[in-house]
Amino acid sequence: MPGGEEETCWREVARLEDVPIGGILPVTLGDTPVLLCRTATGVFAVADRCPHAGWPLREGRIRGESLVCPVHGARFALVNGAPLAGPAQGKVVTYRLRIEQGAIQLGCGPPA
Ligand code: FES
Repeated sequence: MPGGEEETCWREVARLEDVPIGGILPVTLGDTPVLLCRTATGVFAVADRCPHAGWPLREGRIRGESLVCPVHGARFALVNGAPLAGPAQGKVVTYRLRIEQGAIQLGCGPPA
């Protein structure tokens, strides 16, 4: 957590069983479209917007621990949004996520 701040507000957006391994589930956090992406190691939350040209990422695919944009093929690390392959050079926005008794919750504060 940046600056050591504790997230004080969490919002349930889905259940863990709603997202199969290798799957992408679109949800919303307030008015913001967010994608829940599940890999073999966990669930990650990223913005449904590619930083390259702004297209939605919901039709992308999970590859290992990364997400591949369906439009021009940029690949992003799910753990921190960092670009791993072009043409995107910026990060995809990521969100704080926790799982409580099978509920997937997103932090209500600003993106991670
Ligand atoms: S819009 Fe995603 S790589 Fe171009």
